[in-house]
Amino acid sequence: MSYVPVFRRSVEDPDGFWREAAELISWDAPPETVLDTSDPNHPRWFADGRLNTCYNAVDRHVAARGDQPALIHDSPVTGSVTTLTYRELRDDVARFAGGLRSLGVTAGDRVIIYMPMVPEAAVAMLACARIGAVHSVVFGGFAPRELAVRIDDAAPKVLIAGSCGIEPSRVVEYMPIVNAALDMSEHQPDACIVLQRDTHPAELVDGRDQTWAQVMAAASPVDCVPVNGDDPLYILYTSGTTGLPKGVLRDNGGHAVALRWSMPNLYDTHPGEVFWAASDVGWVVGHSYIVYAPLLTGCTTIMYEGKPVGTPDAGAFWRVIADHGVNALFTAPTAFRAIKKEDARGEHLRGHDLSTFRVLYLAGERTDPDTYVWATNLLDRPVIDHWWQTETGWPIVSNPMGIEQLPIKPGSAAVPVPGWRVEVLDEQGAQRPAGEEGAIAIGLPLPPGALLTIYGDDDRYVNEYLTAYDGYYLTGDSGYIDSDGYVYVMGRTDDVINVAGHRLSTGAMEEVVAAHDAVAECAVIGVADDMKGQVPLGFVVLKSGEDIDHDDLRGELVQKVRDEVGPVAAFKDVRVVSKLPKTRSGKILRRTMRRIADGEQYTTPSTIEDPDALDTIRSAVGRV
Ligand code: COA
Ligand code: AMP
Repeated sequence: MSYVPVFRRSVEDPDGFWREAAELISWDAPPETVLDTSDPNHPRWFADGRLNTCYNAVDRHVAARGDQPALIHDSPVTGSVTTLTYRELRDDVARFAGGLRSLGVTAGDRVIIYMPMVPEAAVAMLACARIGAVHSVVFGGFAPRELAVRIDDAAPKVLIAGSCGIEPSRVVEYMPIVNAALDMSEHQPDACIVLQRDTHPAELVDGRDQTWAQVMAAASPVDCVPVNGDDPLYILYTSGTTGLPKGVLRDNGGHAVALRWSMPNLYDTHPGEVFWAASDVGWVVGHSYIVYAPLLTGCTTIMYEGKPVGTPDAGAFWRVIADHGVNALFTAPTAFRAIKKEDARGEHLRGHDLSTFRVLYLAGERTDPDTYVWATNLLDRPVIDHWWQTETGWPIVSNPMGIEQLPIKPGSAAVPVPGWRVEVLDEQGAQRPAGEEGAIAIGLPLPPGALLTIYGDDDRYVNEYLTAYDGYYLTGDSGYIDSDGYVYVMGRTDDVINVAGHRLSTGAMEEVVAAHDAVAECAVIGVADDMKGQVPLGFVVLKSGEDIDHDDLRGELVQKVRDEVGPVAAFKDVRVVSKLPKTRSGKILRRTMRRIADGEQYTTPSTIEDPDALDTIRSAVGRV
């Protein structure tokens, strides 16, 4: 197979292309219409088909691969490895789904899952899918306020939590976070289910909480409930420009077809093989490539509760690959930078049998050429950068390894994936010439698997993604396409930053900083960091007459962001300045500030109100 004709067919005959791809999915009623574009802003894939995602991911494999490991939980932080075969996974999921149903959860109801990387997190997701309920997984590194915002938005009938997460340096008690969030949220779920972990069992609230074990003991297994192709499968909140996260709403049909198609064609991974996405179920990579895509394909998926370094050392990834015969690993470049920092010569690689390992996939942030070269030399295998977003659910630009391995150009995520019409546009919406940077946009309709809308706020979906350019989805990334059609994704055009592969909103941090009594105004920007890619840096202007000690203020602001956004924000640095650079209309010039902080060239914007404000920033970051 070669890439060009496959891509061409996907855009010239999307109906035929995706109808064929849909044959990889088991339907209760096959779709008659592949794509319905009667509402151009809301195209629907396979809307009149009926299917169940859990059936496709679990039950249908039991006959042929019931004894094959479906999920291997490898947890260096607890010193345990747990394997669930497809049969065991089916039994657990069917029973837990019965438990949810006995708590009144039915099709369309929301369920929030706030859990660490344990098999029960995947069981809970699949159990929701089994009964047509809509799960919303919240990443464990977020603080109570962030959880509360999501509870109020999703209005879950049930909340499922772990008693604790285990970070290398500390145990994170989840239930105090849940309790604090429920104190803040208006919405209250009918019940909470708590997975008690031996490391730190939680205190339960009478009348509200039950343990996972109690629910399982009392439940009877239930069957899969067929849903419509365009019925929702999950909401996953992601950071936007403001402090209010966006609930990306995903369907069942398009999602199943796209992910199942992606495994052999993009990841060159086939039924029975072992796929490891070293991410977290709280992120889209975890949804798509720890849980759904490998299971839809009949692979063995690895769920890793540990870090690339420190659990116990920089050889952790090689140990997991060797122990479980991993064929393909998917992680974020930051993980490789962390390994490189501790073991630049790759000495930990020695002694591990990596003969099953074929290819490394990197996403979540751009793979910088240094990391690419280091990883390629170390592993002597293809290192594939690919680009996607929570909204898209699967890759937009990649080297399509299962179709044709194209030459790798370091710094580029390679070529548009079949189905995605990627263009680089100028401010007027004209295509930029090859090699020139602009806004990356995607021609509508988006292929199967992309978001349906923003949950509960369709206007926000239309305004933020579809309005800038008629007929296009705006990605929020800027970049360029070279004369060979390779796409280079260079960075965000909005106030979203990427810290250690975690997508965060500087707007959310600014809201917390601005609320401090001593602060008149503030800006938070993302600045380059050798290991995490980017880290947030705050600038504050004090209220006039305010004489708080600057070190005390810094300490308070760092703690406040940690308490209100979460430790994952890694907000550790604040500079006090006399003014912020702004346009005459009062917009803070964050992009120019970032360029100054990163030591990049910049031009003083013609719209600036007071050019001296740039000197203030330069001296605050020591670039005078
Ligand atoms: N629950 C609670 N706290 C969490 C958490 C979770 N699930 N995940 C992270 N945190 C906390 C950490 O304990 C840390 O807290 P600290 O400030 O007290 O040390 C903070 O959030 C930042 O964590 P992290 O981003 O993991 O940074 P780190 O410095 O501990 O480790 C890396 C750096 C590069 C090793 C780590 O970020 C990593 O493995 N990244 C892989 C990237 C990834 O999985 N990306 C997902 C998209 S593919
Ligand atoms: P998330 O929604 O968390 O997956 O983050 C999506 C954002 O991460 C994108 O909009 C990009 O800014 C960035 N990103 C993800 N993968 C890549 C990549 N391979 N190259 C460049 N940026 C990336």
